[in-house]
Amino acid sequence: MAKILQVKLGERTYPIWIGRKNVPLPDGLGAPGSQVFIISDANVDPLYGAGWQARLEQAGYGVTRAVVPAGEKSKDLASAALLYRQAVAAGLDRSATIMALGGGMVGDLAGFVAATFLRGIRLVQAPTSLLAMVDSSVGGKTAVNLPEGKNLVGVFHQPMAVVADLATLLTLPKREYRSGLAEVVKYGVIWDAVLFHKLETHAAELAAGDQELLETVVARCCAIKADVVAMDERELGMRAALNFGHTLAHAIEMTAGYGTWLHGEAVAMGMVYSARLSARVRGLPEADAVRVARLLEQLGLPVRLTGGDWTALRAAMTADKKSVRRTPRFVLVKKLGEAEIGCDVPDPILEETWNVVSQ
Ligand SMILES: NC(=O)c1ccc[n+]([C@@H]2O[C@H](COP(=O)([O-])OP(=O)(O)OC[C@H]3O[C@@H](n4cnc5c(N)ncnc54)[C@H](O)[C@@H]3O)[C@@H](O)[C@H]2O)c1
Repeated sequence: MAKILQVKLGERTYPIWIGRKNVPLPDGLGAPGSQVFIISDANVDPLYGAGWQARLEQAGYGVTRAVVPAGEKSKDLASAALLYRQAVAAGLDRSATIMALGGGMVGDLAGFVAATFLRGIRLVQAPTSLLAMVDSSVGGKTAVNLPEGKNLVGVFHQPMAVVADLATLLTLPKREYRSGLAEVVKYGVIWDAVLFHKLETHAAELAAGDQELLETVVARCCAIKADVVAMDERELGMRAALNFGHTLAHAIEMTAGYGTWLHGEAVAMGMVYSARLSARVRGLPEADAVRVARLLEQLGLPVRLTGGDWTALRAAMTADKKSVRRTPRFVLVKKLGEAEIGCDVPDPILEETWNVVSQ
């Protein structure tokens, strides 16, 4: 049976369906007879596009599929412009729904198009990567990149529903799957020590992609994300806890050149660093910082960055959009499952801790 959760946002409350091949047609598609515009990428559309199209057509919807090249390069204004024109050509009106079928790149791009086309039409998220299932499909953040930086143009636009079919993870490249696991571990560290312990206990099954285990783990991560979003939709407070590990991660991605590291790989490294910082300045037991690194390593993620250039990384952290008056801010943990946002850490400690994790 598919599991159902809710993101509670008053009259904009929406369901998250999580299942294996048995996810239902999402709510919020509008009346049968209306249009569904499926946006996907060139890897995902050939695998799942026709299946969704057939199901939707059988239910009486008019369906058009639009496909963008796979990869972060498609998450830009030029792709959005092309999609607007394809939407016009397909005859989409305000009763239409956009379905984002793919990983986080497609989710952010299709979400941005849905938020802006005809001043905003309905959106359904159908995530197919682990990262998109546990993170980007829930919460309504949409964005495109500029040459100057990632996610610089965007808007909040909550979907009508999220439908996650775990069976799609069977075709996800292993490296992408592992990268998504970093975000899973993040939820345990910042929010739920019981989840963290479960991940430790079942690390081997998780690394192998055990579908039964994933069903409960993905559901727990989505439930946490749903609670955080319900508490702080616009990231004015606690939603920032989801950025645990991301200050260093963004700096690593930027200095190495986007695409060298997968996002989750950089986040894994960033979490090892932030856990160590937490032990230095927030009293997280040293043994727990070691547990974080050990779990990530068991899941096949990088936990050491030898040869990194601290000066360049430190400069990139200053440029990060979470910096306040050029001082980088960190999410730290006092104990596993309890995050503190907006932490300012003295520079010598930042560098000393870097020296520890980069050995
Ligand atoms: N909106 C948010 O809250 C939020 C949060 C985190 C990340 N993001 C964004 O998400 C994006 C990263 O998402 P991602 O890691 O899913 O990357 P992605 O969407 O680029 O997908 C990774 C790769 O896997 C392929 N793929 C996806 N699902 C597949 C499947 N089931 N089978 C085979 N191949 C599949 C894609 O074609 C792509 O090549 C970034 O743009 C990031 O900024 C957004």
